[in-house]
Amino acid sequence: MNNLRNFHKKLHAWYAKHGRKELPWRNTDDAYAIYISEVMLQQTQVKTVLERYYFQFLKRFPTLDTLAKASEKDVLTAWQGLGYYSRARNLRKTAIQCGGKLPKDVEGLMALPGIGRNTAHAVASFAYHAPVPVLEANVKRVIARLFAIKTPQNADIWDISARILDDKNPFDYNQAMMDIGATVCTKRAPKCGECPA
Ligand code: ADE
Repeated sequence: MNNLRNFHKKLHAWYAKHGRKELPWRNTDDAYAIYISEVMLQQTQVKTVLERYYFQFLKRFPTLDTLAKASEKDVLTAWQGLGYYSRARNLRKTAIQCGGKLPKDVEGLMALPGIGRNTAHAVASFAYHAPVPVLEANVKRVIARLFAIKTPQNADIWDISARILDDKNPFDYNQAMMDIGATVCTKRAPKCGECPA
């Protein structure tokens, strides 16, 4: 990766052609909906979230306020089948704690229950276009391979991810990196010939 601008250009061209731009959480500026999608996607595949949970959950709890007022039992019922139920408990705790409005900055988001650095960066970059990198498992693998790192350490990968981020267009950049990890730079049998990097 000797030329960052060139890398960003190729990445954006790839995303325009191949990106999963139709995913509903990429077509809303509702920070709450984006937050719900990111928490679901922490441990659950896109297909399951899309087909069985995202719309249903938002219909049942359309705002942070409705979630804050719900009983834990009702939230857990809506989460039934998704697993990792602490996610559902933390969603409700966060809704109660943040008084109807999610913070816009990474530090504020990370202070809330169930929001780690990756989720905070995802919400900040997707809802508010903050120039911060997303680093979920797929993106980690992409970066480790791009930089030929055999045993990736989280701190190193976070450093690299901040250096190579396109801070002018963090939304498309982050979504593109996730899509490359999910569809091109797959764990087994990566399609290196199709990689824009
Ligand atoms: N996994 C985590 N966040 C995602 C997103 N915004 N799109 C697709 N997969 C994801």
